[in-house]
Amino acid sequence: MNKRIEFKVNGKKIIDDVNTNKMLLDYLRENLGLIGTKNGCGTGHCGTCTVIIDGEAKRSCIIKMGRCENKKIETIENLTKHNKLHPIQQAFIDEGAIQCGFCTPGMIMASKALLDKKLNPTDEEIRHALRFNICRCTGYGAIIRAVKKASKIMQGKINAKEKKDDFVAVGKNVPRKDAFSKVTGARLFADDYHEKGNLYGKILFSEYAHARIEEIDIKKAEALEGVIKVATYKDIPGLNKFGLMVPQQPVLCKDEVKYFGDAVACVYATSESVARKALSLIKVVYKPLKVLLDAEENMRETSELLHKDTDNNIVHSTSVRRGNLDEGFQKADYIVENIYETQAVEHAYLEPEACLVKPMGSGVHLFSGNQGSLAYKKMIMTSLSLKEDEVRVTYTPTGGSFGGKEEPTIQILAALGVLLTKKPVKMILSREESIRMSVKRHPMKIWMKHGVTNKGEIVAMKVRTIADAGAYISQTMPVVFRSAVTSSGPYEVGNVEVDSYGIYTHNNPSGAFRGFGSTQVCFACESQIDQLAHGIGMSPYELRLKNAFKENVATSTGQVLKDGIGYVDTLRAVNKKLEEKKQFYINKEREEHVKLGFGIASSYKNVGIGNGTQDNAGAFVEVTSSGRILVSIGATDLGQGVDTIAAQICATELQVPYDLVDVISSDTALCPDGGMTTGSRQTYVTGNAVKEASGILKRKILDLLKQDTPLSQEVLSKIYNQAKESNKNLKVEYMYFPPKTYPHRVDSNHKPGEDISTYDIHYAYCFASVSVALEVNTLTGEVNLLDIWSAQDVGKVIHPTNLVGQIEGSVAMGIGYALSEEYVADNKKIFTDTLKKLKIPSIKDIPPVESIIIEEKQISGPYGAKGMGVVGMNPVAPAIANAIYDAIGIRFNSLPIKPEKILEKLNRHIISE
Ligand code: FES
Repeated sequence: MNKRIEFKVNGKKIIDDVNTNKMLLDYLRENLGLIGTKNGCGTGHCGTCTVIIDGEAKRSCIIKMGRCENKKIETIENLTKHNKLHPIQQAFIDEGAIQCGFCTPGMIMASKALLDKKLNPTDEEIRHALRFNICRCTGYGAIIRAVKKASKIMQGKINAKEKKDDFVAVGKNVPRKDAFSKVTGARLFADDYHEKGNLYGKILFSEYAHARIEEIDIKKAEALEGVIKVATYKDIPGLNKFGLMVPQQPVLCKDEVKYFGDAVACVYATSESVARKALSLIKVVYKPLKVLLDAEENMRETSELLHKDTDNNIVHSTSVRRGNLDEGFQKADYIVENIYETQAVEHAYLEPEACLVKPMGSGVHLFSGNQGSLAYKKMIMTSLSLKEDEVRVTYTPTGGSFGGKEEPTIQILAALGVLLTKKPVKMILSREESIRMSVKRHPMKIWMKHGVTNKGEIVAMKVRTIADAGAYISQTMPVVFRSAVTSSGPYEVGNVEVDSYGIYTHNNPSGAFRGFGSTQVCFACESQIDQLAHGIGMSPYELRLKNAFKENVATSTGQVLKDGIGYVDTLRAVNKKLEEKKQFYINKEREEHVKLGFGIASSYKNVGIGNGTQDNAGAFVEVTSSGRILVSIGATDLGQGVDTIAAQICATELQVPYDLVDVISSDTALCPDGGMTTGSRQTYVTGNAVKEASGILKRKILDLLKQDTPLSQEVLSKIYNQAKESNKNLKVEYMYFPPKTYPHRVDSNHKPGEDISTYDIHYAYCFASVSVALEVNTLTGEVNLLDIWSAQDVGKVIHPTNLVGQIEGSVAMGIGYALSEEYVADNKKIFTDTLKKLKIPSIKDIPPVESIIIEEKQISGPYGAKGMGVVGMNPVAPAIANAIYDAIGIRFNSLPIKPEKILEKLNRHIISE
């Protein structure tokens, strides 16, 4: 229903005939072009769309226009006056409260609504005011600090940070390169891109977890006014399969669907609503088939095959053999054996998948968030039979990823639409569609058996892991590999037998996710270590310390660790913090039914891909005609800040002001290959590439200058002209290759005369330890986290604030993994189809987190830097599980440890007592 209403937006009076059922978010973005307000879910569960209405923070995706009559609406665009940031925006930059930036406008508006009403809020009031705003990246700590800082600036107690030129940017908290555009809402994410006359693509998904397709009838859909084309498998000109490791998943299914997220057809229409209507007119006749959801069952030789071109349902397996397992267990005085189970988890990046594809000659130009533009380009070329110069991929700011955007979802289909219609095509997944289609964290079942002597030497370990790979290969191969080679934890164990398997099921494909298989086995291993310690009467801390990785110790895969081994320092640091605070919590009064517990856990994880694979990354560094420095890299900034790190390294090497350095990243037409942004590799590989390229450019500049003059913009501009006149090139192109790694060998025993370096499956590792203080309410089963300390060995710190943000973010994700998050589907439906049902932690769920940084330098890293971002999550769940055991004496071997699970076990415990 349309109605003429009057309201104000950012102080401007608007009188308009509005569709009263249209959501305010859509009106702001579509009718007023105010795209700073973002759409993260459309169901009011994430808060990215928060605006202020009559002084109150409101989620604009659930406010109908009919309710906006006579209202005063304020959006993020109203905060910056004459290029001067509002104190909240400035504080968000200073405190590192922005990473991917997709939640940022909503967070800032919710913070403003609070500070407009109460200038000096308490922590609790901040948490309450931001309770509807999810941030998946930062872990909320920096956001709380930013709101408090803004409050002080607004009260005149402190000044906003003064900007100054910095010639040694490495190690400093310089403003992120994308900070201004993210806090003002000006940053364009893929959903903010439009092209005149672009069509809208929508996917028809499978109705079944497993079925045969007997007929697809698109006639009615194609006849609908506004529909330009309906594509089926018949329209794919090239290989109708995609996948990063192995092309296997159909772009559009032909005769069988293997999970609910399989795409069957794609509609291209003049509007999204027409496209949606057309989907309902496509008739697909299915014959439902048996749904195989149990990985362990599917592993049996007699099991039905999920893929007819394979001999069994094993996607991949990795084994490790070191020492003599029988001899190891014979030496043991105490043995612990358990089965652990971990759950499927949704990445829940705040930006749902979106892209725009434009025609480019006979080919296509894709604009999309991703973790590797070149990989997307290759997959589009293969499926659409296009040549190298017919596909260009331009990375758009990516609103979170965590491994979930390594592979395409909508991008090949949008490119197909361009080829079929010769028009630009935009595609967006709704939150429900994103959850339905995207990969998940591998659920795993892990049998683990350890033997330890009375003196605390871990002498044997046997592991068997079965990972649910889902319907297609995706990233199961490296995840299974990683689960096998990291399963012993950061401990020297002489006798090891590990077998890890990834098995097909009709669940969502399991893909890359922060931790990459090491997270699941870390939960099992660190739970085991605590039980071993209790069994021999040693403290869990002491047992860890006694067996800890140090220099010259060999891993279970035979790699002798050389430099950058800061594990022990991380362990000592979190133990010290816990010991210092223990008495405080012990002395604190609590009700009888509330039990106090402490826990500790550790992890290690590779930097880079390793395992003998290609792991290089490039950088171009050049002086531009305007006297600035342009750095081009292949890495993608997913919020972790690689653009800023590249600029810091370049500024430091060239000795130019940080502000003079611009960065473009991951455009296949303009940037070098940077490989995938994964495995905490980009600070190391791209950082080294930028450092080397900048060093070469510096020498070229000095050659022209003949003296070491400070490089101002004016000087650089002169040098540019000088070089041009003398036909000299001031652009350096550099490809960095990290130290050689070797493929993992099952037999990890060093043989006489062998070159031991051939056991180096990785060139660097990072380490993390976590300690936890918590309370368990035995009446409700609720876990109240009191304090978390997280120490991480990252080598040299390039950007301290960014680093703390990565640690806090990984801890928050670990808390969700431990206590609440779970993706649940069965053979009939997906149960957790909203962010709310997935139980992503909110600001109220995260306790104070103290980050402790250990700088154990890696000689080959840039300035000694390694990587970060991944390993910090791993020890969180086992540390919490260990603390829960400490509190109530009950061990939980499966995740998440939800209140109902605790209550059930407590009740059983009482009955058996
Ligand atoms: Fe908050 Fe990414 S910065 S979701």
